[in-house]
Amino acid sequence: PAPGWAIEADVVVVGSGVAGLTAALRCTAAGLATVVVTKARLDDGSTRWAQGGIAAALGEGDTPEQHLDDTLVAGVGLCDEAAVRTLVTEGPDAVRRLIATGAHFDTDNSGAISLTREGGHHRRRIAHAGGDATGAEISRALVEAVRERAVRTIENALVLDLLRDDDGRTAGITLHVMGEGQHDGVGAVHAPAVVLATGGMGQVFSATTNPPVSTGDGVALALRAGAEISDLEFVQFHPTVLFLGADSEGQQPLVSEAVRGEGAHLVDASGTRFMLGQHELAELAPRDIVAKAITRQMQAHGTDHMYLDGRHFGAEMWEQRFPTILAACRAHGIDPVTEPIPIAPAAHYASGGVRTDLHGRTTVPGLYACGEVACTGVHGANRLASNSLLEGLVFAERIAADIAAGGHARVAGAPGEVPESAPACPLLVPEARIQIQRIMAEGAGVLRSADSLAEAAARLEAIRADADGADERKAAEPGVDAWETTNLLLVARALVAAAAAREETRGCHWREDRPDRDDQDWRRHLVVRVTPDRT
Ligand code: SIN
Repeated sequence: PAPGWAIEADVVVVGSGVAGLTAALRCTAAGLATVVVTKARLDDGSTRWAQGGIAAALGEGDTPEQHLDDTLVAGVGLCDEAAVRTLVTEGPDAVRRLIATGAHFDTDNSGAISLTREGGHHRRRIAHAGGDATGAEISRALVEAVRERAVRTIENALVLDLLRDDDGRTAGITLHVMGEGQHDGVGAVHAPAVVLATGGMGQVFSATTNPPVSTGDGVALALRAGAEISDLEFVQFHPTVLFLGADSEGQQPLVSEAVRGEGAHLVDASGTRFMLGQHELAELAPRDIVAKAITRQMQAHGTDHMYLDGRHFGAEMWEQRFPTILAACRAHGIDPVTEPIPIAPAAHYASGGVRTDLHGRTTVPGLYACGEVACTGVHGANRLASNSLLEGLVFAERIAADIAAGGHARVAGAPGEVPESAPACPLLVPEARIQIQRIMAEGAGVLRSADSLAEAAARLEAIRADADGADERKAAEPGVDAWETTNLLLVARALVAAAAAREETRGCHWREDRPDRDDQDWRRHLVVRVTPDRT
């Protein structure tokens, strides 16, 4: 749709989690006219839900080199070592700057930052806040800083597409704003630099830890703009998500890895610890290994959940260290102080996304990406726990520095339209969302095979064909639900294509028909692009 209004800026940041707000604050500090657009309220993204914390080599005896080693092991041969080195060496100072911006982390009696452990880390290096409410504290501090510094923000604004000039350079975005007064309906923000920080795509699956806003909008925009998308097959399933019943759909409560980091055990219905003997780190093995072990146990026992037993913590520790999780469990009638918590894996994090270099630049000039929407190369085939907040922080700062230094190559001339080669996307009726989520859960979840992926691809294609052939009466009305659902279909199709193409098991991509890792053929990245005129 044609924009009905437009505003001008130097930089538009899309998204308001740790990555987006950090980029916006740093761009503003560099004197750039910055606009943040975000789909719901400023604090409604995934960052607010992060529990465990933020990983950085801050503890005595820990070093960036050790953090690097753990990250590379978790990434199973597919991390970009230069990107990981950047993350772990710049990480500790980035956390200190976050503290200077106003975030309060938990400290011990001496005033030093308290550090916990999570899966795949050989050291205590996870800083946390409010016990298990780290993301909420980071979000609070950044939102407050953005308001104090009067950064221009537009809430309730769904990004639609990238604007390009005649030379193909970024010229801004189109967006649909709902009920924000002066700027309402479909409009444009013209800017020569666009930073995508839209978060993840967990809503593409039926059960996820992600909030409802995580519908892959940034990846969908980038696909339509012709940017390279990489590693989409590596969807991380968090091992311990509160199990609320087989038919519970949408966002599910997370039970942080930090609970295992503090000594809780994974057990079956008889109370037997099943991680012992499976990995030297037992319950603290990398996340893909734990998720697979839980899934195997569920298959062997013919059940849909296992248990996390932290009764030995006692009431005081639960209340002080894990107040958010305790409250969530009790709200669902489970008391972790007196009973094991029923858990099952659920979709948690997209390790892949819009491919970037070390400055956060994508393959489209002027378009940047950071946070979960990006694929910087730090996660490889499986993200190490609590590296994501750190990645958002470190690469957002690098992006701001690059834009301030003119790295995006400023555009001359009037902003153009979405390029002709952009795919025609028949809008989907919002009811298709639940169909897409079920297809993905059944065919492209923790366990995948050539057959399950082929079936998922065919069912997704049927949804697209149906929308393509819909007569006017059945055509979707343009609106946020319809656009989100259309984005979900686009990213689902790209994800399934990548998962079908990778004929091996590696990290969080588990192919039942190809159970082994194949370093000879598959130690490489898959790049997805859309074919013009197709979703
Ligand atoms: C958790 O607290 O378990 C989540 C941490 C993460 O996903 O990095």
